[in-house]
Amino acid sequence: MKERREYKIAVIAGDGIGPEVIAEGRKLLERAAELDGSFSFCFTEFPWGCDYYLKEGCMMPPDGLDRLAGHDAVFLGAVGRPDVPDHVSLRGLLLAIRHGFDQYVNIRPVKLFPGAPCPLKDVRPEDIDMVFVRENSEGEYSGSGAWLYEGTPQEVVIQNGVFSRKGTERIIRHAYELARRDGRSLTSISKGNALNYSMVFWDRVFKEVGEEYPDVETHTLLVDAAAMFMVKDPRRFQVVVASNLFGDILTDLGAAISGGMGLAAGANINPERVHPSMFEPIHGSAPDIAGRGLANPMATFWSAAQLMDHLGEKTWHDRILAVVARMLRDGTGLTRDLGGTASTSECGDTAADLLGEA
Ligand code: NAI
Ligand code: MG
Repeated sequence: MKERREYKIAVIAGDGIGPEVIAEGRKLLERAAELDGSFSFCFTEFPWGCDYYLKEGCMMPPDGLDRLAGHDAVFLGAVGRPDVPDHVSLRGLLLAIRHGFDQYVNIRPVKLFPGAPCPLKDVRPEDIDMVFVRENSEGEYSGSGAWLYEGTPQEVVIQNGVFSRKGTERIIRHAYELARRDGRSLTSISKGNALNYSMVFWDRVFKEVGEEYPDVETHTLLVDAAAMFMVKDPRRFQVVVASNLFGDILTDLGAAISGGMGLAAGANINPERVHPSMFEPIHGSAPDIAGRGLANPMATFWSAAQLMDHLGEKTWHDRILAVVARMLRDGTGLTRDLGGTASTSECGDTAADLLGEA
């Protein structure tokens, strides 16, 4: 008899709506395992986040990364609580994992499914189908800087953007590879006119690496123009490569034009697979709706699909996305943000039911 594959998944549900959406994501993954029969999941929960911080004084224990290290993937909800400073919660957990596990590629698909709400005029679903490749390990979020003479009239703050040759080349190369694999164009987001070191360097590396990919059609846009074109003419974008900050901002815009925060997923990838990769919806802990069954778990479903793809279970990636597409098309099991009346767990139940038919 063939041995069953067992996937070890570390679960950090986190704060606010994190535990609500993660519960539904797990439901869907368990259902996939049940339907497939050739693999199973072993989920281990780590109760880290802001509650943990308020008790222990840190977002995760000092050996947190070691405890996550043996897993095949990390499945994360969201972190953040109004009574804990956001830079503490973000840097203490999310960024600590992204940086510590060298998850330098952040893949964020921006795709408009038929039936998903879109605020743009005269845009058809096929007009919005892009994938952002965001630099995830350095750049504007490196944490380098200083706060001098704090609280005095001479106060000075310095926030450095850190762009290493290695870090810039590897993310740009990853994006070229993806564009080549999928036969799509590649757009680089820049701001070389104002950021006269970091973005001039970025543009140069984009050009240099591009010489190895003469088959890939390329474009370069300043970030402000890119924001404008994402609204006016989203058809322009296929694969997009951007720095940490620019990618962060533009993918929230991407979420807004493709159904909202409840639908936007992201994967933090360590391509060399030396460390686990991490899968999470891109939204935050949404304290305004937490604990009321209002959160849309579909972004988490999409992240779960990315997780399956990463594990080599591409069919299940496709089947999960097919369920999301079908629910949006038929208007079934949708939460309030998408015009439906389903609760978070009803949405999850519908998805789990439909997975068998996808
Ligand atoms: P947010 O993404 O939590 O919420 C923005 C808006 O979108 C809110 O109105 C919220 O109700 C809505 N929303 C978000 N996710 C939704 C979902 N699944 N279904 C339905 N509606 C949804 O961003 P916000 O309010 O700026 O941040 C709240 C907290 O989350 C802060 O503490 C922030 O630092 C943290 N945060 C954490 C992130 C993470 O863990 N990856 C990412 C972004 C923010
Ligand atoms: Mg963000």
